Amino acid sequence: MDRLAPIGMFDSGAGGISVLKEAIAYLPQEQFIFYGDTLNAPYGTRPKEEVYALSKVVVEELIARGAKAVVIACNTATSAAAARLRAEYEFPIIGMEPALKPASLLHKDGVVLSLATPGTIAGEKYAQLFSAYGEGVISLPCPGLMEFVERGEMDSQALKNYLSRLFAPYMDQKVEAIVLGCTHYVFLKKAIGAFFPETPLIDGNLGTVRQLERRLREVDLLAPEDAKGGVTLLSSGGEAALAVMRALLMT
Ligand code: DGL
Repeated sequence: MDRLAPIGMFDSGAGGISVLKEAIAYLPQEQFIFYGDTLNAPYGTRPKEEVYALSKVVVEELIARGAKAVVIACNTATSAAAARLRAEYEFPIIGMEPALKPASLLHKDGVVLSLATPGTIAGEKYAQLFSAYGEGVISLPCPGLMEFVERGEMDSQALKNYLSRLFAPYMDQKVEAIVLGCTHYVFLKKAIGAFFPETPLIDGNLGTVRQLERRLREVDLLAPEDAKGGVTLLSSGGEAALAVMRALLMT
């Protein structure tokens, strides 16, 4: 495999662009191919088997385009498919998980809110994480929340209404951290932060990108520092979906 080959990255849609942005900043010498499976979004309300099958189709597409490694820029697809995909393919597959571990360091006597898709929260991987780092954690499945990002709607009244219903029971509690356990929610930091201005919002994006760097270094596939980086965006959702992805990449 060639060190100059691209890194494939995918999500059910545009959420993974938040990971891509972090990856470009951290590894500017790399070429990235990002695939948003918008046609099949959301993944978070689908059965695990379907998410695995959809993820495999995307991984095959990224392999066909010469990817040297794949980042699953989606907590839901990681939970449903990463272990099986790693058993099926030889090259590095980097996944993500809700950042309960770093959030647990902030927990004292209040609560930590963990926001993720229903699929992620129902998964085995989350149960394991929760048993290790779940003290004080309230898990909040958020069906319908990623769709705001897909519509490019980061500041609408409808979004505020959704969040206000979600957070109503916790407004009088001491919220020590909020885990953004879905890559789409990273684009909603401003809207979410407005409800809890003092509370740190924690995502797993930087940790994922660091892990990507480590894995590529281990297998000697990091692009040389003087290589020319770049990004190709692809989507199963056509031009409208690509436009949303491009706009999020620019923010
Ligand atoms: N962005 C995805 C995640 O991190 C999932 C959104 C969805 O398709 O439901 O979980």
